[in-house]
Amino acid sequence: MTISLKSALAQAHSNIALIKYWGKRDEALKLPQNGSISLTLDALWTRTRVTYSESNGPDQLWLNGQLASEPMRLKVQRLLDLLREKEASSSGTPLGAAKIESENNFPTGAGLASSASGFAALALAATAAAGLELSRPALSRLARQGSGSACRSLYGGFAEWQRGESADGSDSFAISIDETPDWDLCMAVLVLNDLPKALSSGDGMAQTVATSPLYPAWLASIDEDLTHMRQAIASRDFSALGELMEHNALKMHATALASRPAVIYWMPLTLELLARIRDLRQSGLECYATIDAGPNLKVLMQERDWPRFQAALAHWHELKALIPCRPGPGAFLVPDALAGQMP
Ligand code: DP6
Repeated sequence: MTISLKSALAQAHSNIALIKYWGKRDEALKLPQNGSISLTLDALWTRTRVTYSESNGPDQLWLNGQLASEPMRLKVQRLLDLLREKEASSSGTPLGAAKIESENNFPTGAGLASSASGFAALALAATAAAGLELSRPALSRLARQGSGSACRSLYGGFAEWQRGESADGSDSFAISIDETPDWDLCMAVLVLNDLPKALSSGDGMAQTVATSPLYPAWLASIDEDLTHMRQAIASRDFSALGELMEHNALKMHATALASRPAVIYWMPLTLELLARIRDLRQSGLECYATIDAGPNLKVLMQERDWPRFQAALAHWHELKALIPCRPGPGAFLVPDALAGQMP
């Protein structure tokens, strides 16, 4: 008896939003209230292998070598079921149960965008293993339905997730702004806490949309932020990009803080480091911070300033890790010959 397995391995890198996605207009389809712009990072990534068997049954998810929790498994199965619907309508051959093996080279669920790289890698691996060829906008739409921010990780460098207008989400996917920016940028990831967060980004944003009186002001300001961010990227204006990135992140957190109950992702150390970044700026080291749904900071600087930045934080023993990242690539398939080379 021959058992035919359909398998593919994909790698996707995490991305950090410069203009944040915060709030959904459709929870099930993961349609955003606002557009967002991100930078994909080279040093943080997920590798995911999807293998379909010929038998039916529940999909099995292994995350960093361990069987994943049931809620996580169900999120992944939901994405694969979307693909099964496509496959059934195109070839009529049903895809069997899948084994999904996923590894992150960084802490999972700690606000380092593991769901972004995770669902982008999953969308690409699951599609390739099924023998389907989808365009990048179609892959981006699929990844979006796993985790919104994942739709941007299909692309390298700077990407924009277009909010879209349609109710079915067909026009809500990411496009490239500049895949391989020739710009000496460094985004340093400061890990203060590497434990999974207590409140997911999805729950935090839902609570903000439902209860924060500042949410309408957040939404009203986004189109202008997007326009200015596109301009800063196009003109390579580091100061304008950094200032706006930090402003947009603090505005998102201010909006979340005003929720009832308050949505608070910061630790005392988060605020101390924000003050340190300001001091560094005043002393001539131009760097800017952004913060996602967690306590960790990401600090953007020009690559030449990285050694000084690293030295300035060297005595900060509470930091669990300091990871310098450059602009990274979009999601790609890993040839089987290279599959063993995990770090
Ligand atoms: C603060 O994409 O993790 O990082 O769509 O519910 O899975 P879900 O949320 P997720 O939210 C990311 C929020 C953010 C901002 C951003 O990446 O744009």
